Amino acid sequence: MIGMDNLITGDKKNIEHLFHLEQFEYYHHDVSKHVHVPGELDYILHFASPASPIDYLKIPIQTLKVSSLGTHNLLGLAKAKKARILVASTSEVYGDPLVHPQNENYWGNVNPVGPRGVYDEAKRFQEAITMAYHTYHQLETRIARIFNTYGPRMRLNDGRVLPAFIGQALRGEDLTVFGDGTQTRSFCFVDDLIEGIYRLLLSDYAGPVNLGNPDEITINEFAEEIIKLTGTNQKIIHKTLPVDDPQQRQPDIALAKKLLGWEPKINRAEGLKITYGYFSALPKEELYKSNEPRQFTQ
Ligand SMILES: NC(=O)c1ccc[n+]([C@@H]2O[C@H](COP(=O)([O-])OP(=O)(O)OC[C@H]3O[C@@H](n4cnc5c(N)ncnc54)[C@H](O)[C@@H]3O)[C@@H](O)[C@H]2O)c1
Repeated sequence: MIGMDNLITGDKKNIEHLFHLEQFEYYHHDVSKHVHVPGELDYILHFASPASPIDYLKIPIQTLKVSSLGTHNLLGLAKAKKARILVASTSEVYGDPLVHPQNENYWGNVNPVGPRGVYDEAKRFQEAITMAYHTYHQLETRIARIFNTYGPRMRLNDGRVLPAFIGQALRGEDLTVFGDGTQTRSFCFVDDLIEGIYRLLLSDYAGPVNLGNPDEITINEFAEEIIKLTGTNQKIIHKTLPVDDPQQRQPDIALAKKLLGWEPKINRAEGLKITYGYFSALPKEELYKSNEPRQFTQ
């Protein structure tokens, strides 16, 4: 088992518990550059990419490269090793969706030159090249369209709403809601997602499959839930909505249910309790740490 990462937005601490395993090896490597792995490989899971808006706005070129050049490199590796490859796509391929909930037949509403285009379009290219390797080279490919996922080990200040709210509550700051807070999100706990990814990897379906939790909530309601969970006395404040922020997000998971017999089992109350337990046990200095993505050459 090999883990490969250039740690541009990741943290080695998150995988340190694997280092004592004899069968685990860690390669510090940028997958946008040529990838060499000796020996045989059965499966490749391509999850490398900045994933939060703060990150991909700061490192737009790496974001474009990892899902285009990086995906190309890993598809080439899969072909050479006769391995099956699963790529982590995203609900962002639907952009600011005009249909609701989003199912896999919806082609999306993305602004290619908007600030989020660097992530959304790279992931759309990733899906296209993955499908081309499947049809042209008969490579065994899988595409997971992942919706908002959360859980322990997220970075507190990575700009995603859940760690942002919990971080603010723990620091005794007001909770910042962008826009009027009526925009919706649907949050999936990481253990559920991993089960879905695993089932998809072992399935024989090459088309994109939505994986997420359809339990939709407005950002205002979500902020209220975090206030209740953390017992903070802080209030909600509103700031201007970022450009192209999607108004609605809810996966239609009928396909995953049918194909994989999968649906999320952990409800938001349970998942948030586990996640809050993780964040509240962090040393105090972690709450104030800057979590800038590392600026590698573009
Ligand atoms: N978490 C979500 O809600 C969500 C939703 C949709 C899609 N995804 C996708 O799932 C994947 C993982 O997301 P995550 O939330 O775990 O993010 P994450 O930032 O925790 O993990 C991504 C990892 O990729 C690494 N990386 C980035 N560029 C790299 C490169 N060029 N070479 C090697 N490693 C590189 C980072 O250092 C980081 O450790 C991403 O592809 C993301 O687009 C996540």
